[in-house]
Amino acid sequence: MATRHFLTLLDFTPAELDALLDRASELKRGHRAGEDQRRFPGKVLAMVFAKSSTRTRVSFEAGMAQLGGHAMFLSPTDTQLGRGEPIEDSARVISSMVDVVMIRTFGHDIVERFAAHSRVPVINALTDSYHPCQLLADMQTYREHRGPIAGRSVCWVGDGNNMCQSYINAARQFDFELRIACPPGFEPDAGLLASNADRVTLVSDPAAAAAGADLLVTDVWASMGQESEQQARAEAFAPYQLNEDLLARAAADALYMHCLPAHRGEEISAGLMDAPDSVIWDEAENRLHAQKALLEVLLESAP
Ligand code: CP
Ligand code: NVA
Repeated sequence: MATRHFLTLLDFTPAELDALLDRASELKRGHRAGEDQRRFPGKVLAMVFAKSSTRTRVSFEAGMAQLGGHAMFLSPTDTQLGRGEPIEDSARVISSMVDVVMIRTFGHDIVERFAAHSRVPVINALTDSYHPCQLLADMQTYREHRGPIAGRSVCWVGDGNNMCQSYINAARQFDFELRIACPPGFEPDAGLLASNADRVTLVSDPAAAAAGADLLVTDVWASMGQESEQQARAEAFAPYQLNEDLLARAAADALYMHCLPAHRGEEISAGLMDAPDSVIWDEAENRLHAQKALLEVLLESAP
């Protein structure tokens, strides 16, 4: 059987994703009830981080411990990856010693090349192009608060970045309509848009994109690796803030999300970030539960 990877949401079928989210909520309930979830003693997760992280590292490391295994943090500064050892060689070696690998890096081709040379499952924990683990948490959060997202409308406001592109894949896999409002020049990949044109549309006016939406989502204006563009981006993105005015245009029971870390007063207003009924903190916590369900699927898939 071919090694199973999770590089984008398209690696799992819609039915598999639904089952995974059911299991994520079940694991969450069990964890809160004090259940012993140590089903994978002796299993090791290698976590390769070429970019910073709070949520991803804590959720994978805590999740693996709760499942009875061990997580190993690897950074380019202390491994030979940072000294130019080829990805392909690193993949062969690391995957010969661990049971599953998680990678956060820059180019999406890096996780693809690693996966192609790995004998164990590889998880994309964010590339410049996609952040599928965050979408598992976002989709879990929506269904826990509002039920199935199929047939609903979602508004993305802001950069056409890795999160936006993951929402495009989610629109296809979870069957919702996605309206994207981005400043000109910051749109998601044209090919990805074209291949999902049946359910994804670009709208220039954020208010039009938000009209009647069931879920509003945004993310930082400058992603990791784009720090030098921060000032220019702040000007281009100023009209694209997720705030109370935008939320007022959405459906009466609309939710809003942000993968975090957030910049209050930039891509999201302080009022929405700090609102007592915000689901953003549930969204962050669900990284833990959704990824435990993902680890279970991948560890169980091992030949
Ligand atoms: N949302 C997210 O991936 O957060 P971190 O960068 O802190 O991991
Ligand atoms: N788009 C952001 C997401 C961070 C979790 C980034 O890539 O930096």
